[in-house]
Amino acid sequence: MSGSVASGADPRPRNAKRNESPFQVPLVCALQSELMKRKLLRYVVLPLAALLLIGQFIRPARTNPPVDPKRTVDAYTSVPPEVRAIFQRSCFDCHSNQTRWPWYSNVAPASWLVVSDVNEARGLMNFSEWDKRAGRRSGPEFGQICERLQERDMPLFYYLWLHPRARPSSTDVEAICSWTDAAQKNWTQGHQ
Ligand code: HEC
Repeated sequence: MSGSVASGADPRPRNAKRNESPFQVPLVCALQSELMKRKLLRYVVLPLAALLLIGQFIRPARTNPPVDPKRTVDAYTSVPPEVRAIFQRSCFDCHSNQTRWPWYSNVAPASWLVVSDVNEARGLMNFSEWDKRAGRRSGPEFGQICERLQERDMPLFYYLWLHPRARPSSTDVEAICSWTDAAQKNWTQGHQ
């Protein structure tokens, strides 16, 4: 064995250029990616985590106001049980005071979206407070219910991702539409 290697001395000739070292490139890469990781952690991951944490303190109220039977849709129009069952399964989480608040409605930012959707939906059409809709100048506009179902833009698509069983079948849509037709006719006759 030649003495110089065994003694731990640098085997490379003294005049070798630094960047010719076979260890140099991987080392630089490793250092750079370590640096990138730290920057990512410092400027992206930690601030996002902090925001998420602070966000948990902003808690919009999840309410289920009491249901007064004198104000529900049933007090104004007769709703057959099979139609009611579809509404209950597919619409009541947003369009009634009987919302089943899911666990993620406790966690920001999902909570903000869920609460604002429910509030907006209740404001426009609330099966538990049908007096509001019936009292509008244009009446309850039952036809809108059928339209939104036929266009398949109700229930909201992201709600259906999380609640696939709430998707109305085509038979459900037909049942709802024949009910809305009849209810609208009755309403118009009663208000002529
Ligand atoms: C995840 C919540 C959610 C569910 C479930 C849901 N909706 Fe909605 N709905 C909304 C929101 C939010 C709006 C207001 C925004 C819009 O019009 O798209 C709305 C608006 C409507 C409107 C318009 C009301 C108006 O006067 O403009 C109708 C009609 C309607 N929904 C019917 C239904 C029916 C029928 C179902 C069940 C088959 C249903 N929705 C299920 C959230 C929901």
